[in-house]
Amino acid sequence: MAHKLQSEIRKKLIDAFTKSKEEYLSGQYLANLIGCSRTAVWKHIEELRKEGFELEAVRRKGYRITKTPEKVTPDEIRLGLQTETLGRQIHHEESVDSTQKIAHRLAYEGAQEGTVIIAEEQLSGRGRMDRRWHSPKSTGVWMSVILRPNIPPPKAPQLTLITAVAVVQAIEELTDLTPQIKWPNDILMNGKKVTGILTELQADADRIISIIIGIGINVNQELDDYPDELKDIATSISIEKGEKLSRAELIRVLLAKLENLYKLYLDKGFYPIKLLWESYAVSIGKNLTARTITGSIYGKALGITEDGVLMIEDSSGKVHHVYSADIEL
Ligand code: BTN
Repeated sequence: MAHKLQSEIRKKLIDAFTKSKEEYLSGQYLANLIGCSRTAVWKHIEELRKEGFELEAVRRKGYRITKTPEKVTPDEIRLGLQTETLGRQIHHEESVDSTQKIAHRLAYEGAQEGTVIIAEEQLSGRGRMDRRWHSPKSTGVWMSVILRPNIPPPKAPQLTLITAVAVVQAIEELTDLTPQIKWPNDILMNGKKVTGILTELQADADRIISIIIGIGINVNQELDDYPDELKDIATSISIEKGEKLSRAELIRVLLAKLENLYKLYLDKGFYPIKLLWESYAVSIGKNLTARTITGSIYGKALGITEDGVLMIEDSSGKVHHVYSADIEL
């Protein structure tokens, strides 16, 4: 309880510094805001310093933040976060098996919509089709988001496509790179994978209880950080951009984009998302092979249906609907 109270107070402090931007906030102002003494404010400021924040304290003016830590702690992410729901509850862990696993437990226990679980490192990061997801320490965004949309279970894959669009928009906003989406959920740069998305469900037959969206973004890895088997197929934003990017800023922008697209989707349906998704897709109009569990389909990708299903036209003119597959371009 005491711990919870402390983090609630720090949340208030961070929100105040977010609003004040470069301005100083006086000790008295902060004390009134959180309803404690100025000495207690000072103790909270010391806690923020321990987390890696640098704060300037000037007599008669007060405090302001001058530098933020390169961690993805809740305080660091909240500083400047522009969302209403997503990321309002953040669980940050140093090292976990998989953020998906924690998200499933929290969702089951009733976590509110928009709860985010972030880890610096995952020891058994999960990918699609039971693959491993390489998640080394403090170099990427390893994050799960809990959503509770009121939609029928078959529509859940649409959330993967919404997330892919949000990731592309976030990377485009922060860099001059132009990532592309490979159906259904890979984000590529120069043909190599920079992001993977894994959408999992807690549902009854006719009702979604929660959707857990797992997002893995390779941000600050160098080529040498990858094991040999990944070197030819994976890349990171910093490899492509030539410099490092703040993971916390990327998370903030991504959560804002995802929230906007999610609202648009709940309000207007999938059609506007479909148009955006197709505008970023690498495979549409191209010939490709889709390897499904029942066999391979070769043909031209026509686009996606209203439900996010890939349509492939084979040489006989027959159109196949592909729900789940590995795509080779
Ligand atoms: C894929 O492309 O196969 C999907 C990869 C998804 C990786 C993310 S990282 C955060 C979350 N936790 C996991 O264990 N997996 C997802």
